Amino acid sequence: MAEQYVAAVDQGTNSTRCILFDRRGRLVSVAQREHHQLFPRPGWVEHDAGEIWNNVTRVVPGAIKQIGASPSQIVAIGIANQRETSLLWDRLTGRPIGHAVTWQDTRTDRLVTELAGTEGADRFADLCGLPLTTYFSAPRIKWMLDHTPGLRQRAERGEILFGTMESWLIWNFTGGAKGGLHATDVTNASRTMLMNIETLEWDDRLLEAFDVPRAILPEIRPSSGVFATATEVLPGVRIGAALGDQQAALFGQTCFSAGEAKCTYGTGSFLLLHTGQEIVRSKHGMLTTVAYQIGDHPASYALEGSMAVTGSLVQWFRDGLGMIHTAAEIETLARTVEDNGGAYIVPAFSGLFAPHWRSEARGVIAGLTGYITKGHLARAVLEATGFQTLEVVDAMNADSGIALTALKVDGGMTANNLLMQFLADLLDVRVVRPMVTETVSLGAAYAAGLAVGYWPDLEGLRSNWHRAGQWMPHMDPARRKTEYANWQAAVQRTFNWIR
Ligand code: G3P
Repeated sequence: MAEQYVAAVDQGTNSTRCILFDRRGRLVSVAQREHHQLFPRPGWVEHDAGEIWNNVTRVVPGAIKQIGASPSQIVAIGIANQRETSLLWDRLTGRPIGHAVTWQDTRTDRLVTELAGTEGADRFADLCGLPLTTYFSAPRIKWMLDHTPGLRQRAERGEILFGTMESWLIWNFTGGAKGGLHATDVTNASRTMLMNIETLEWDDRLLEAFDVPRAILPEIRPSSGVFATATEVLPGVRIGAALGDQQAALFGQTCFSAGEAKCTYGTGSFLLLHTGQEIVRSKHGMLTTVAYQIGDHPASYALEGSMAVTGSLVQWFRDGLGMIHTAAEIETLARTVEDNGGAYIVPAFSGLFAPHWRSEARGVIAGLTGYITKGHLARAVLEATGFQTLEVVDAMNADSGIALTALKVDGGMTANNLLMQFLADLLDVRVVRPMVTETVSLGAAYAAGLAVGYWPDLEGLRSNWHRAGQWMPHMDPARRKTEYANWQAAVQRTFNWIR
């Protein structure tokens, strides 16, 4: 019998990929297409949802064709996606209403301050686990409904649908305007600020506070479980899973037990600590989020430390400043100098996320002198990711009461050995990278494969995890302390930019 595969579709911030995995969790084929980043105004970041769906329709057949397989060899589709990016579309025509407004977009900064009012940013944290910031979907939905004439009335009449990218993909995979399924999963729903973190249902108090009509919302489903059978792109193949990409990476790193953590280094970076079936409320700026739900089992939860700008700082260094030609060149440039020369870059491009949650913050380069060269700035770019991780790990340790002893990492930036060593030095822990670093896709594949019986259970998946690299800490503690203090001083300079 011909080999069978699971197809993972990772709809990320920069690109859409389809990766095929075999039964041993090995990556057998990858097809990828980037989409445009639209910056219509400072602080606004949008995507064209039509372009993204079109990319899905090309990468899925592309990955299958690459290994000479046939669509009948695909047993399930698993979807992982950039979270919080919000889209409204017309139920009857299937056409998006404007662009998708991405998770990095800060247009709602004034709105979130108004909504926080005298009660503060944690006004809804008990209900949804999240602080009020520009990061999450609900303020964005309100903004979209309020800024397009007549749209709110149409939404109330049931003519408009809302979704994050997994909902848009599921709806299109299942026929779109011809009767597509309008659904999301618990992990993605947990990032909207509209879902009750305990009941895992849309909460009327939140819908009312954000002025969001219930009629536009998708049905909430478990992350792993058959959503529907596709009628487009891969007709007849079951959609077995949908998860937010960071939760998918936790799953792909096989962090299935309380106390296990991973950090994924992509456009942004996201450290998630599995807290089991317990809902842990952070006192130090971490988010409470759903890790996953498998079928009708109880959901698992996580604490998350989100860093908005890490890989995208390298991208800005390349495309915005033209300092390098390829992302990989940053390591070579950074190695031309011994250290950062006293320069620190705090990339508060979308405000500052965890643990600060300051939507009004804007980026700074601190410590400039005539001594600073491109090499020092390249180091400062990479180190910004290290320092942000340290802030998150400190907060996570304080919340959980247990000091992290090793960090499992994955994502594109983990190819940078200088950064991985800096991370180990700064965190003073072992940093470990698995064989398959495409953990977002792997997690989506695992969750979909479990749903259709391709893999029997979680234990079997654990045995697929193999270590490929590790870095041990060497930094002198006194230097670590000074560097961190300098970083923290630079962070203070980013506050209070929007008045
Ligand atoms: O919350 C945003 C996150 O899901 C984006 O991930 O890897 O697409 O930048 P990524």
